[in-house]
Amino acid sequence: MPTDMTQPLCEIDELRIGFRGHDGELTDAVRGLSLTLHRGERLGIVGESGSGKTLTGRALLGLLPPDALCQAKTMKFDGQDLLAMSARKRRQLCGRQMSMILQDPKYSLNPVMTVAQQMREAFHLHSPKLDRREMREKIIAALAAVHVRDPERVADAYPHELSGGMGQRVMIAMMVSSGPRLLVADEPTSALDVLVSMQVLRILDEMIEKHNTGLIFISHDLPLVMSFCDRVVVMYAGRVVETCAARDLVHAQHPYTRGLLAANPPLIDPPDELPVLKRDAAWLAESTGESA
Ligand SMILES: Nc1ncnc2c1ncn2[C@@H]1O[C@H](COP(=O)(O)OP(=O)(O)OP(=O)(O)O)[C@@H](O)[C@H]1O
Ligand SMILES: [Mg+2]
Repeated sequence: MPTDMTQPLCEIDELRIGFRGHDGELTDAVRGLSLTLHRGERLGIVGESGSGKTLTGRALLGLLPPDALCQAKTMKFDGQDLLAMSARKRRQLCGRQMSMILQDPKYSLNPVMTVAQQMREAFHLHSPKLDRREMREKIIAALAAVHVRDPERVADAYPHELSGGMGQRVMIAMMVSSGPRLLVADEPTSALDVLVSMQVLRILDEMIEKHNTGLIFISHDLPLVMSFCDRVVVMYAGRVVETCAARDLVHAQHPYTRGLLAANPPLIDPPDELPVLKRDAAWLAESTGESA
């Protein structure tokens, strides 16, 4: 079936994710989230800790924890209905066309396999015909591309032998080199110093350019999201409370978004005291959904 390039890459409508607690009580973590992502678009997701950003990304990839209760009116990738798809087909999609850079790479890498062993597994899905030497070259090149200084040594290391930033780069190397059509990057630069962060963003840029990848970029760094993304959704308590063009985030209207912005002090001449966000119970009920 030829791909209709005009339709969105991803569509989520009314996503709900909950967990049953030890007392059997259901807690809602994502409460009716809707969003659309286009091909080649960089969509930032911002919002406080616990607002459901990671769960949303995981739901799209089919990587939710087994005890999560998930439902949605629509969840589509490239016109295909993810809700109706077999588990096998979803796994295939996840390995080949959708990738996620997970928030805690050290916990996401397999602790009993070397970096090269797990990269080989990931790369085998896309390049099954490579022989041993070619595969090794591809692994080293992928590590070098994310500016790992000593790729030969890192390739043969186990995850516990890596620093946090190196683990993050290994994860990025694994996920980016397949040229996915959708990449969910969950705080991909949070463990990296500024210079390496910039290099990683350049790598994401190149990937988007080359493969027209749709990127969901989850971050707490509002200035970075404003400069790197095209559009931003702001999440609060499991919902989208505001959507706007990234450059317009400074003019955001929702009081929660204004609060987030005010909590990012300017580097030059910062205020003596940071404002404390006063939450309004009405924000929990409110959902503006997609406005852009
Ligand atoms: N496996 C789980 N069991 C129970 N509750 C969970 C589980 N995973 C996530 N949650 C809850 O769901 C909510 C949303 O979690 P999520 O990880 O999506 O937050 P987040 O927006 O990514 O936060 P952060 O910015 O800290 O990464 C949180 O309140 C969290 O406690
Ligand atoms: Mg998270």
